[in-house]
Amino acid sequence: MSGSAITPWVVGNWKMNPMQADAKALLQDFKKLLQNNEIKEQDCYLGIAPTMLALGSVQSELASSVRPVYPVAQDVSRIAGTGAYTGEVSAELLKDQQIDFVLIGHSERREFFAETASILNEKVKNALNAGLTIIYCVGESLEQRENGQAEQVVLQQICDIATVVQAEQWKNIVVAYEPIWAIGTGKTASPEDAQAMHAKIRAGLTQITPLGASMAILYGGSVKPENAVELAACPDINGALVGGASLNAESFYKIAQAFANTK
Ligand code: 13P
Repeated sequence: MSGSAITPWVVGNWKMNPMQADAKALLQDFKKLLQNNEIKEQDCYLGIAPTMLALGSVQSELASSVRPVYPVAQDVSRIAGTGAYTGEVSAELLKDQQIDFVLIGHSERREFFAETASILNEKVKNALNAGLTIIYCVGESLEQRENGQAEQVVLQQICDIATVVQAEQWKNIVVAYEPIWAIGTGKTASPEDAQAMHAKIRAGLTQITPLGASMAILYGGSVKPENAVELAACPDINGALVGGASLNAESFYKIAQAFANTK
């Protein structure tokens, strides 16, 4: 037990998965595992980020869980409020539906949906102003890592949002470090490499805000039960953002257990 003062987060990012019947079975299996009462609320926050389409039904399903599991939006509009913006869901609409968490800046959004730093800044600003907590994702590509630019890229991504986050709003930000080359590839950063980057992120955050020392920094990229214990043992890894392995109730549960056990 490391006895870290930062409560870990384990969040499942379902991405564009699964079909309805599979989602229902997955949640039921996960809720059943939670009845073992091994993952105490104070030892680990839990969240699940389904598609926007499934967010409401997942939220209802999670309401009957023995312990809180927060529904998390995978994205939010860069437009605030309500209005004639076909296809968009604003931070205010999420909040109005008691959704309190949102992922922003995932590499898949940056890469496939051309989300630039300025678009992400609008999303961050709107989400924070609406009272949401953000899981802000950062991470370098393989090419950037091989060129020795990983640290610079990641710290720049943190600095980007610093221009729109007000001093007291840092408490509503969780950072997720997800090296792009480790996402969905089965390649995880070694615990040493991940810890080294997390320590750099923490040092960067503490230069920006006094809250940096107590902010949770999650790791994402092929996290699975087989590597979760080692990752969870690293002092600056305060949880996981889990893709593929969150689509299996038992795997996701084991990962959550690994992080809860560090408390
Ligand atoms: P995988 O766990 O499937 O590598 O995905 C990580 C991720 O992108 C979570 O947001």
